[in-house]
Amino acid sequence: MKGNIIRESEYNHERKHKIIIILVLDFISHLDSQHLSEPFQRMIIIIRQFAPCLLPLLLLLQLSFLYPMTISAAVPTYQMANGDKLPAIGLGTWKSEPNQVKNAVKEAIKLGYRHIDCAAIYGNEKEVGEALAESFAEGVVKREDLWITSKLWNDSHDPAHVIPALKKTLEDLQLDYLDLYLIHWPVSLKHGVVLPNSADDMLPFDIAKTWSGMEAAVDADLTRHIGVSNFSIHKLKVLLKNARIRPEVNQVERHPYLQQKELAEFCKAHNIHITNYSSLGSRDRPANMKPDDEPILMDDSTILNIAKKVGASPAGVLLKWGLAEGASVIPKSVTRKRLQENLEADSAVQLSDEDLKIIRALDRKRRYLDGSFWCLKDSPYTVENLWDEQATSGSAGAEL
Ligand SMILES: NC(=O)c1ccc[n+]([C@@H]2O[C@H](COP(=O)([O-])OP(=O)(O)OC[C@H]3O[C@@H](n4cnc5c(N)ncnc54)[C@H](OP(=O)(O)O)[C@@H]3O)[C@@H](O)[C@H]2O)c1
Repeated sequence: MKGNIIRESEYNHERKHKIIIILVLDFISHLDSQHLSEPFQRMIIIIRQFAPCLLPLLLLLQLSFLYPMTISAAVPTYQMANGDKLPAIGLGTWKSEPNQVKNAVKEAIKLGYRHIDCAAIYGNEKEVGEALAESFAEGVVKREDLWITSKLWNDSHDPAHVIPALKKTLEDLQLDYLDLYLIHWPVSLKHGVVLPNSADDMLPFDIAKTWSGMEAAVDADLTRHIGVSNFSIHKLKVLLKNARIRPEVNQVERHPYLQQKELAEFCKAHNIHITNYSSLGSRDRPANMKPDDEPILMDDSTILNIAKKVGASPAGVLLKWGLAEGASVIPKSVTRKRLQENLEADSAVQLSDEDLKIIRALDRKRRYLDGSFWCLKDSPYTVENLWDEQATSGSAGAEL
């Protein structure tokens, strides 16, 4: 199953087996055994005597042949090359205020989330760390059952800065290791610059150099997997040529208005898993990143019609589309009801091939995060070279 989404989770096996046991016991207790042969009649009498304690006993024992693989969340998983499983529905934490995120992460874990998407730049890793530490201490979840992603900020792209940045993230998250560490953006800033005010704050991005720092983090057992974010096909090609340890994930904006079909095909061909961000259209992002006239994904009439038809919410349809495309999704929410709804997007929302075809026709190459905030006057970055939409194959570009 390596490289594929495992659609039916073990949770569902477990639930199905419990239902089957209940049905069988119920059938036996109502069975008219008069016409059966004597040994069968005797067996049924014994089963009836023990029926009340049989189910709890089976559930207690969690018999290995009935429950061959147990994970805790009701979501499909994506299997990495080393066998690790990335839960295909995670919790996004960008814009979750420090005073909200701790509660959101704890609630999410209780609901069954096993994948949390973090980043140093979100400014809330300390609170996420408190939520994790409390969840472990309360016995809600074990570290090894969680998938924790974080991201290297743009001012720490020098290989000498990668491990210190990762160690700071680990300290804040109160963890010994990450499951996945990503280069957040293919954009470099001078060390100590959080956000650039002018081109003077910016540096050219050297993929190979930064990646060598990421590889060193794997060598030091500080992260189990490494990957990138906001990378185009062109930059992935440059990276693959220079990588000793292959990138396993590319986290990118992806939803029905920005389907990134070529990128998805390239990643599939190179066994790079895609995590979709802003699956719901990122409506809560800062006003200066959000033009007034932008199309609102969750209000799209096609999405609303499909949602109504299948008895789901627009968010459920958008997330299920991403999962059906083979990606993982990391919707952000700090609202319990929405956390639950998003977590159930795979099991509770059914989209037909026709629905998926209709959604595929909504593509309009519309980025909500177009990266223009990196493209300051005289800086090495333009919207074109950030996304390489005009790049021809083989021309790496001096800065990249
Ligand atoms: N790698 C990158 O460069 C990058 C960039 C952007 C995002 N990300 C990651 O991806 C995550 C998700 O993307 P995003 O935060 O941009 O936005 P998003 O998940 O598309 O949308 C979040 C917004 O949707 C609302 N929402 C959540 N579930 C909902 C539901 N079921 N029904 C209605 N509204 C719902 C949230 O409100 P409430 O919170 O009030 O419920 C919030 O306002 C981020 O948090 C971050 O972890 C990564």
